[in-house]
Amino acid sequence: MSELGHLRADFPILRREINGAPLVYLDSAATTQKPQPVLDAMDEYYANHNANVHRGAHTLAAEATERYEDARSRIASFVDTASAQIAFTRGATAAINVIAYGWGLNHLREGDRIVVSVSEHHANLVPWQMISRYTGAELIYLELDDEFIIDTSNLEAVIDDRVRIVAFGGMSNVTGALGPVDALVDAAHSVGAITVLDGAQLVPHAPVSADDLGVDYMVFSAHKMLGPTGIGALWGKPERLEELEPLEGGGEMINIVERYHSTWAPVPHKFEAGTPPIAEAIGFGAAVDYLGRVGMEAVAAHEREITAYALERLSEVPDLTIYGPKDVTKRGGAVSFSLGDIHPHDLATIVDQDGVAIRAGHHCARPLMQYLQVPATARASFYLYNLREEVDVLVGALMKARKVFGLG
Ligand SMILES: Cc1ncc(COP(=O)(O)O)c(C=O)c1O
Repeated sequence: MSELGHLRADFPILRREINGAPLVYLDSAATTQKPQPVLDAMDEYYANHNANVHRGAHTLAAEATERYEDARSRIASFVDTASAQIAFTRGATAAINVIAYGWGLNHLREGDRIVVSVSEHHANLVPWQMISRYTGAELIYLELDDEFIIDTSNLEAVIDDRVRIVAFGGMSNVTGALGPVDALVDAAHSVGAITVLDGAQLVPHAPVSADDLGVDYMVFSAHKMLGPTGIGALWGKPERLEELEPLEGGGEMINIVERYHSTWAPVPHKFEAGTPPIAEAIGFGAAVDYLGRVGMEAVAAHEREITAYALERLSEVPDLTIYGPKDVTKRGGAVSFSLGDIHPHDLATIVDQDGVAIRAGHHCARPLMQYLQVPATARASFYLYNLREEVDVLVGALMKARKVFGLG
């Protein structure tokens, strides 16, 4: 058992059986499982401190507010930044929409360019398509190199002085390829463009210092890092958060409201209209505490080890094609593959018979599927609770699938 194997006891769901076999959960890129301390933190809040935050002078309101703001500061520390630089959003998708609308609508116009990569998740693509339509700014794509990494060999040709914004992923949820953050930040900043890092798959898997990355904005989601659904974070450099207009108006995000106009609350509250997801913020805080106790270096090392093992074992399966870097220093633990001409959905259904949860489909990355010239892929993705033995179970199930489909 790997060094982190003992953590499995903290995840009640990992005791489940599926179709009579122990659950082998290999779908953490879609959402991760939740450890008991996260479940407990949310229950404890509802059982003992439930009240709305930021308004009201009663004790419960103060306790709820303290816990909500304390979660914000723990999440900020987790990505090595200041509390005021973290705004809670509904998730990574919502945070990108805040940036696209709040910055894009106010700064982009015809003749400007928005650059994204062909490997982006729809969350970091569709909002930019919308903003392009509203503003007339043109959407331009960065392609991939032969290791499935965003191609930086000819950046000057794409990132010229018409480019105002470069939005890219820290790690592809399909290929696992890490984003070339430094090269893209340098290229963008050299022409005065701003950068948006989709950290949904990066922040859960590696130590991240937001301030050190050099990007202007970064987003991530709690549910991909042991926390609950319904909450994520928008991070920005202080001056970028100041210049970002809120997307949603309502209670809590205002300073003064008059009949015909209002002014906004200070950052980050101007981005948090309405009653926020309070229990979720507290669960998110408990999730980063848990990850912090394990240590993100240890999480990353564990995933590198298990991914290397998976790449090795999967390459033993005849007719299997992997879409992603072979070198584990250039990738994370999302491994996409196809097996002969078996449809990935059929594959996922068959391995589920052995309790193995993998994902099949376009993974919200249709332009990437077109680029790879496949309609869909199967994907196994790993996290701190996965074991090498689980890779063996996956490989065994894939061998069975080959037989079922007459591949031998
Ligand atoms: C790379 C990437 N970006 C963004 C998202 C969107 O995250 P959410 O659905 O939590 O908003 C995902 C989710 O799969 C993702 O993998």
